[in-house]
Amino acid sequence: MSSIMPPHQKIWWKQPLDRVEGMWIAIALLWSLIMFAMMPFWHVYGKQNLSNEAYRTTPEAFGKKVQAMIDQYTVRTETDQQIPVVRPPAGSDVYLAGRLWQWWPMLELEKGKSYRLHLSSMDWQHGFSLQPLNINLQIIPNYETVVTITPDTSGEFTIVCNEYCGIGHHSMLGKIYVVE
Ligand code: CUA
Repeated sequence: MSSIMPPHQKIWWKQPLDRVEGMWIAIALLWSLIMFAMMPFWHVYGKQNLSNEAYRTTPEAFGKKVQAMIDQYTVRTETDQQIPVVRPPAGSDVYLAGRLWQWWPMLELEKGKSYRLHLSSMDWQHGFSLQPLNINLQIIPNYETVVTITPDTSGEFTIVCNEYCGIGHHSMLGKIYVVE
């Protein structure tokens, strides 16, 4: 009998369970329970899934907050696109927008200081992937995701978009500098 033929026994569910079949069901069940338990476990003991808050917003309202921070705290611009590098005061609210196809603006944060990082999208769904730390957050328009972060390593961190968002997805990069 092949899988494209109808079963030999029409009422197949009344036949006794084969030992191998039972074993596979047990393995699959056990594995699914392990994977399920990994979700809360990894949230607590892993470093990739941050606890976050989410609030309703609009691209217009969020864009204004980003612009207000840029107007107040820009320290320099980078690349030939004149991307502002913003250094907000330690402990403050920091705003970062994802948009086609850029993370806007660049941030400069102080090591060992805490910030409330607000993230939202101006258009489509984007993925905030902070490298090389591998922190991942889904960034959705009309929602403001807030995470409290305390950078503990100085250096240059790259934000990569990891949610496919169109023709420029691969070039959707951003930068966070952590300084001493
Ligand atoms: Cu934004 Cu992919």
